[in-house]
Amino acid sequence: MGMVVLDSLYLYLASSFYWFKNQKSLFLTMVKPLSYIFSFFTALILLLSPSISAQSRSNIPVGNSLSAIINGSSWLSPSGDFAFGFHQYLNHTNLFLLAIWYAKIPDTIVWFANEGNPVPQGSSVTITTDEGLILSNPQGSNLWNTSSDLNGNVVSYGFMSDTGNMILTSSSDSNPVWQSFEHPTDTLLPTQVMNIEGAVDSRLSETNFTKGRYQLRLQTDGNAVLHVMDQTIYWADTRPYFASNTWNPPNQGKQVIYNVSGQMYVAAENGTAVYNFIPEDTVIVSSRDYYQRVTLSFYGLLTWYYHPRNFTNNEVGWSKMYSIIVNICNVGCGFNSICSYDDVAHSISCDCPSHYSLVDPTDKYGSCKPDFQLSEDDGKDGVFVEYNLVRLQNTKFDSDKCDKRFEGITEEQCKSSCLGDRFCAVATWVGDKDTCCKYKPLFSGGNHDRKVSETAWLKVGNGTYSTAPLITKEKTKLNTVVSVLLGGSVFVNLGLLMVGFFFIYRKKQLRSVKQPRKEYDNVHCFSYKVLEEATDGFKEELGRGAFGAVYKGVIGAGNYLTFVAVKKLDRISNNADKEFETEVNTIGKTHHKNLVRLVGFCKEGDQRLLVYEFMRNGSLADFLFGDHRPSWEARIKTSEGIARGLLYLHEECSTQIIHCDIKPQNILLDDHQNALIADFGIAKLMAQNQTHTTTAIRGTKGYVAPEWFKNKPVTLKVDVYSFGVILLEIICCRRSVCMDRIEEEEAILTDWAFDCYFSNRLDQLVNDDIEAISDIIRLKRFVKISLWCIQEDPSLRPSMRAVTQMLEGLVEVPAPPCPTSIASGTR
Ligand SMILES: *[C@@H]1O[C@H](CO)[C@@H](O)[C@H](O)[C@H]1NC(C)=O
Ligand SMILES: *[C@@H]1O[C@H](CO)[C@@H](O)[C@H](O)[C@H]1NC(C)=O
Ligand SMILES: *[C@@H]1O[C@H](CO)[C@@H](O)[C@H](O)[C@H]1NC(C)=O
Ligand SMILES: *[C@@H]1O[C@H](CO)[C@@H](O)[C@H](O)[C@H]1NC(C)=O
Repeated sequence: MGMVVLDSLYLYLASSFYWFKNQKSLFLTMVKPLSYIFSFFTALILLLSPSISAQSRSNIPVGNSLSAIINGSSWLSPSGDFAFGFHQYLNHTNLFLLAIWYAKIPDTIVWFANEGNPVPQGSSVTITTDEGLILSNPQGSNLWNTSSDLNGNVVSYGFMSDTGNMILTSSSDSNPVWQSFEHPTDTLLPTQVMNIEGAVDSRLSETNFTKGRYQLRLQTDGNAVLHVMDQTIYWADTRPYFASNTWNPPNQGKQVIYNVSGQMYVAAENGTAVYNFIPEDTVIVSSRDYYQRVTLSFYGLLTWYYHPRNFTNNEVGWSKMYSIIVNICNVGCGFNSICSYDDVAHSISCDCPSHYSLVDPTDKYGSCKPDFQLSEDDGKDGVFVEYNLVRLQNTKFDSDKCDKRFEGITEEQCKSSCLGDRFCAVATWVGDKDTCCKYKPLFSGGNHDRKVSETAWLKVGNGTYSTAPLITKEKTKLNTVVSVLLGGSVFVNLGLLMVGFFFIYRKKQLRSVKQPRKEYDNVHCFSYKVLEEATDGFKEELGRGAFGAVYKGVIGAGNYLTFVAVKKLDRISNNADKEFETEVNTIGKTHHKNLVRLVGFCKEGDQRLLVYEFMRNGSLADFLFGDHRPSWEARIKTSEGIARGLLYLHEECSTQIIHCDIKPQNILLDDHQNALIADFGIAKLMAQNQTHTTTAIRGTKGYVAPEWFKNKPVTLKVDVYSFGVILLEIICCRRSVCMDRIEEEEAILTDWAFDCYFSNRLDQLVNDDIEAISDIIRLKRFVKISLWCIQEDPSLRPSMRAVTQMLEGLVEVPAPPCPTSIASGTR
């Protein structure tokens, strides 16, 4: 208690020292250890001494106002360090920004009102009783005010503090009812505190103060993150590019504190610093001699600056003390833009590649748009474009954002693969590894660097338009092509999504298929006939699931054939059918590296089909229950991938998706043993009772959570249950129900796992798997996690977020409860 009070008081103290002087007696009664008080006061007086002049706080009573005129007056802090008022907007003579700035340093704005929008000359700001600050235009109408933050409090005074905080109070010595420190814009100042859900937003550009693309935020989970905000583009990468990783009690963050000595840290509940933003070995200049601030730049870099308090030459300027080290080129420019990093100035520049130009010509860090029709849209409005590849010298891309990767292919193959791929905007090829990476339109993270020897190829329209699509001249028998493809290592990763051409080769004949040209965001609408031909009349069945059978097919043209898995849906509820296209579009928008991608669909008559990318490596069932046991390491990787895919469906994609049918047959593997979840989003399309009956068939000890049988609401936790069962199967490399086991007690894996765990016989559970046993700490953790996931009471089961954290060892896994309820329930 002492520490908390002390800490918050201390900060408040720093922000309104003059006010606090009158309250010393209160402080003394609240905090007992006198030594603390003494040392704090000494520290404070020392630290603040430059700003504590002999003046006292200057209260500005209600009714006072300022006008937006050149050389107009402002409200100064007692020391004269900070000013509140109208700051000229850049070099415009008749535009002003209501702002707080360093009064002694030219043009350093630390806070601004009205969402960064400037106001015309003749506007005014007034302190009022009921609305606090009111910004009005020259005609007197309201542009912005603080009323919604006042919570009914009345205002009597305003004052500008020496820490740079504009404060409104209801009496001359009471607590603030409003303060600019609680509404930061792009800058934080020493003594400023950011609470949970508090955020600092970058400006849009150097010359536009409205909200930009980057944000520093203290999330509800206690993690302080930097992330890109671009809600307009759903596949924009909004994952944090920096995180303090302070979400784990007891180190869970409660506040971000920029303390008076210039360190900024994440503080836990008890006030201790659990993460320092500025590393220990960085010299933090003394706040006695230097002004300090931290600003989130419009290209996403969080930088701490300092400036001498005493200076004679106006050219001194701000120096950089520290920037959060991130590869800012991966996030710093808009889409389709190429970034160059200047490591001397620690800044970036952004350039549109050739054949691209700025969306907003005044925002040079913004996104670029192609001057030609993207191949993604090829054929739209009946116009077809011919494409070329343009070489981007010394340019590399963030390989994490690579959409499709191929190994062991030549540069020419890489290039032609991009040319033929409707969804390829850029391809990179790295010679020493023969690796080709393709990036989708709206690429980001392109990085120009003279030290880089990588080459990137940009796909551009070559100015030739036609009303008929370009057809590959070569005609090959499907079978030959398929065998070539299967035999060669060229197309190891069969991700080539060549759905752009609606042609299919079959029996030496090229048939043009007229498609209804309705545009969907991501998925393609196929005709039944095309899919029938693609699957050779639904000949090769790959599997059969709860919702229908899956067939192997091949679509595309020429060298760009790609394998697909075509799912014929059995029966769709009438209600769901109305939503079919919407749902399919939602599924199509759900992209994650642990989810199988939906390529297209067909809705014709009463036929409903879904077309997925084809995974040649089969399912988790083949992987686990095959002839030889896969390595422990590969199994760990697989389980983490499944957990991440589910977490994405549950929490991270725009529409929450409950899978409802998680089982090893629905989890596919790519060439690198990454797990990809298939069939998500379909449960919603199927009739409710059908979902029930089909899943129920799999029996009480399958993958189905007990609540399915109890008429209880089905929540996300049903997937957690199924995940728990699968995790056990991955640990043990055996099926959850195995009646032909010799020992009867081993037949039901979930029961057997509980028995083994509570009797400390994990070696028996894993059937003496040496690899697993030698990693006993992880093995035990994984078993505990699965036992938590298969708890009968859904509320006891962890969320998928908690599961991923526990799998990765970031969170301690408590001992699971004894399965008494299990015994009574489903045994
Ligand atoms: C504003 O002040 C500057 C410097 O004091 C002066 O040069 C300028 O003429 C003034 N402008 C107006 C419009 O008063
Ligand atoms: C203050 O702003 C709110 C909305 O932001 C508006 O509804 C209200 O009328 C404003 N108050 C005045 C006095 O203009
Ligand atoms: C800043 O950008 C926003 C969004 O593009 C725009 O609406 C606004 O007019 C711009 N402001 C100025 C002063 O250019
Ligand atoms: C500011 O925070 C740092 C890091 O937590 C700490 O070492 C330093 O003592 C703090 N300064 C003050 C005046 O509390």
